[in-house]
Amino acid sequence: MKDLDFKHGGNINYFAEKFNLSISDIIDASASIVPFSIPDFLKEELFIAIKNESFKYYPEINLNKLKQTIGSFHNIDSSCIMPGNGASELITWVAFEASKYNINCLPVPGFSDYERALNCWKAKYFCEELPKNNFKKIKQPFPINPKSDVIWITNPHNPTGQLWNRESLKKLIEKYKLIVCDEAFLSMTPNGENESLIPLTKKFDNLIVIRSLTKLFSIPGLRLGYMISSPKICRNLNNLRDPWPVNSLAIQAGVKLLSSKEEYKKWINKIHSWINIEKKWLTDELKKISDIKVHESSTNFFLIQSKDSLIECINYLSRKKILVRECSSFRFLDDKWARISLQTHKKNQLIANELYKFFL
Ligand SMILES: Cc1ncc(COP(=O)(O)O)c(C=O)c1O
Repeated sequence: MKDLDFKHGGNINYFAEKFNLSISDIIDASASIVPFSIPDFLKEELFIAIKNESFKYYPEINLNKLKQTIGSFHNIDSSCIMPGNGASELITWVAFEASKYNINCLPVPGFSDYERALNCWKAKYFCEELPKNNFKKIKQPFPINPKSDVIWITNPHNPTGQLWNRESLKKLIEKYKLIVCDEAFLSMTPNGENESLIPLTKKFDNLIVIRSLTKLFSIPGLRLGYMISSPKICRNLNNLRDPWPVNSLAIQAGVKLLSSKEEYKKWINKIHSWINIEKKWLTDELKKISDIKVHESSTNFFLIQSKDSLIECINYLSRKKILVRECSSFRFLDDKWARISLQTHKKNQLIANELYKFFL
């Protein structure tokens, strides 16, 4: 069996197979995915797609319907949209665009996939540390101003959950030759959409925004994301890709999700209120444990920090079938840090209980 990929959370299948468990026995707080069943209106759509064997044909090669749906959802022309096989595939192509410039900056600790993608194209980059003393529940200005041609922003940031305000990011667009803003978690973050850079793609050709639909709708296995940028960048990158990068089921899911405005709104309200309630509950509970520091976050995951290594604690939790994200693979974090993603209330109670038992 392939060794566990410590650069990403969400290795629930590996864990289940290794310890002979059923997936439903495991609480996976290592990947920041909405813990609910997929929305009913999406489930129905996928049943219909399977019944009609829609995958019997090649997907529509230009992804026109999906692009138009995403375009009207964001009020952006469809020539500025490139859907992909999850945000991860798009990160690879965006890195190709970024490799045309002299030097990229990656704020760290950050999502490791940007490095993988830049390495694909032998792009030059350096990492600049984000200060670790400004964790907040709410938005804040982007804190660093490194010298590079390209800067990669994650909003809200992964793994810290810091939400950067739009005004501070707008200044970066004016300064850098290219700015990449990964908004994979923005729509599920309460009050997050106000900080989106998507409206600014109409004005700035040097801006690329990446979105993921996998976390918000609990469909990481379906793979679906999109990128919004200038028509020129979209056209150039699209010409390089494999044909049919998004499968028929994912296309149908994306069209349904983003064209059903009422259902979308209902889902978003449900997710925001879940995050507001459960984040407060779980972080308040964990703050009672004096051996760990609980950091603030704007979104559905947060960091904990200890004076000593958390490896024993993480191993203890995994014996209790609870996975959290060990952080030593993040630059400038180490084994004294772990990232926990919010679950349903019952599962959050189990996480809190096991952490009390371990530390008390
Ligand atoms: C910041 C960030 N961007 C993108 C992704 C990838 O998302 P997708 O599942 O759409 O490929 C992740 C996954 O963890 C992420 O944390």
